[in-house]
Amino acid sequence: MLISFEGIDGCGKSTQIELLKESLKANGLTVHIFREPGGTEISERVRSLLLHDTDEMNPVTELLLFSAARSQLISEKVIPLLEKNEIVILDRFYDSTTAYQGYGRKSVPLKEIKLLNSIASHNRVPDITFYLRIDSGTAAQRTQSSSKDRMERAGNQFFEKVASGFDKISKQEDRFITIDATKASDEIHKVIIEAVKAHL
Ligand code: TYD
Repeated sequence: MLISFEGIDGCGKSTQIELLKESLKANGLTVHIFREPGGTEISERVRSLLLHDTDEMNPVTELLLFSAARSQLISEKVIPLLEKNEIVILDRFYDSTTAYQGYGRKSVPLKEIKLLNSIASHNRVPDITFYLRIDSGTAAQRTQSSSKDRMERAGNQFFEKVASGFDKISKQEDRFITIDATKASDEIHKVIIEAVKAHL
């Protein structure tokens, strides 16, 4: 089973992924967690280029690098695990590309992003996508004190576009489960674990 988590920076994905992992573990299930961009040696190197190495990057280059990192992760790690019927959790997947590079940067038309997403993900589609929904103002407050990576430095207007992009995607995709990310963390977890159990 392939599960992805999406939402803007500061939505609380990492906490929920950890809680889900612990619950499934307590039920005797092993889970494999990967973050995007990252998860393989090549993808982690691309991550550094994308997030830490430079401030100047052409938006199309950015789109292609996120996609390149994804292709490597999916082919090298995710597909072999799915073929063994393992549970894989992705901390971001191609919906992030649609939201950040498509709606946020407007790097290329959305239909081209869609094609690139299916190429980079080797046509894999999540069984469930949890979208932790939060407005960009609240998210900005949550990330205020932490040191910012290149994407996070893009500013509030950019994050407003990304947030409204995620909202649009969530209305188009049946696999999306949208959760109010301002709710208490244990309440959010309950919704998530119940949805996962229903899919097992
Ligand atoms: P990360 O530190 O993993 O952030 P978070 O904890 O919020 O997930 O950094 C990933 C950053 O890259 C984040 O700002 C979202 C961005 N991103 C894209 O712009 N496009 C993508 O396709 C992906 C996977 C991430």
